[in-house]
Amino acid sequence: MKHGIVGILTLGIFALMGITFMGGPAYHGGEHGKVIADLGDNAVANQTQAIQEKDDRQKEMDKLSALREKAGNVGAFKVSQAYKSKCSSCHGVNGSGEQNGKKLMGTKLFGQSADKLFKDLMDFKSGRRENMIMRGLLMSLDEDDLRKFADEIGEFPARKSAQNN
Ligand code: HEC
Repeated sequence: MKHGIVGILTLGIFALMGITFMGGPAYHGGEHGKVIADLGDNAVANQTQAIQEKDDRQKEMDKLSALREKAGNVGAFKVSQAYKSKCSSCHGVNGSGEQNGKKLMGTKLFGQSADKLFKDLMDFKSGRRENMIMRGLLMSLDEDDLRKFADEIGEFPARKSAQNN
């Protein structure tokens, strides 16, 4: 009788060992080990994909700007620091009124004459022409400043063609 019980217990233990063995690499971390290994693989795959996507996007951007240059859009030329910091966020770095093909808040200034620009600026400042944004912006600028901005922007087309020659 005693031998019988020991025999059954022994069998049971062997059976458990068998089940554990079939259950996979229990002694190498079991399921947890597998999850961590998967995570590692995925992280590498994700990173590789991200790098690939960035490359593709960069290529698209390069192609786009090349196309834009060809289409005769406003290309790059030098502008003053004052224009860059005070005006370009709304009127574009080169007065085109857009950036990367997207319309900005401000209008296209490129190609307008210095006198017309100066008159617009004075009208904004005096309130003859109503625009909250431009008026607020010009409050800290005097007539001389406006003249300078108008003259500079009026010069943009000449600067651009100088750049291209
Ligand atoms: C926060 C955005 C913003 C900034 C910054 C800004 N502008 Fe403007 N600007 C506008 C908007 C919007 C209009 C259009 C207003 C309207 O049509 O009444 C405008 C209109 C103008 C116009 C009239 C042009 C036209 O075609 O009628 C001139 C000139 C001008 N801005 C010059 C400047 C200068 C110079 C600076 C920098 C000192 C500047 N702007 C900075 C938003 C901005």
